[in-house]
Amino acid sequence: MDALEAIHSRRSVRAYTGAPIPRDHLEQIVDAGRLAATGNNRQPWLFIVITDRAMIAQLKIAARWMEKAGAVIAIVMDPGSRWWVEDGAAAVENMLIAATALGYGSCWLEGYSLQFEDRIKALLGVPAGLRLLTLIPIGVAAEAPNPDKKPLREVLRWEHY
Ligand SMILES: Cc1cc2nc3c(=O)[nH]c(=O)nc-3n(C[C@H](O)[C@H](O)[C@H](O)COP(=O)(O)O)c2cc1C
Repeated sequence: MDALEAIHSRRSVRAYTGAPIPRDHLEQIVDAGRLAATGNNRQPWLFIVITDRAMIAQLKIAARWMEKAGAVIAIVMDPGSRWWVEDGAAAVENMLIAATALGYGSCWLEGYSLQFEDRIKALLGVPAGLRLLTLIPIGVAAEAPNPDKKPLREVLRWEHY
């Protein structure tokens, strides 16, 4: 699947079959995050891949539906870096697209994980000075959502507003 195809077909998937994901696929997904644009090339990130079922079961405090994910990637950022939120967001989107290209469903999970940031950081052994930006559950999709998107003509202007 080429990049545009993956961008077009990516949707947030919140139901998975429970099938495991090969390690080399997870490495390719994290590699896509590692290569994201980053302010001043600071790369203030670290990606924790969680495949252990007992740990994933604990992480579901962030969202019950992720229990059957084949893996969860936690994006850990250094908030001392000026563009840590933007950098982290770029890395997350790259990984969602890479997961799609490899045939998996995934979801940007931030709302509830931030609420449980301290508990999740403790579970994963993340140092106090770092931030947990997002969790990305990834798995073989058990649903094919297709939420409405604004049409291109509504969001595109040429030359001026
Ligand atoms: C910053 C951000 C935070 C999000 N947080 C959550 C979340 O906590 N739980 C969730 O189920 N989806 C979350 N999402 C996914 C959005 O709900 C989803 O992208 C949106 O509904 C559009 O659907 P699509 O991703 O299928 O295009 C988040 C997305 C972004 C960009």
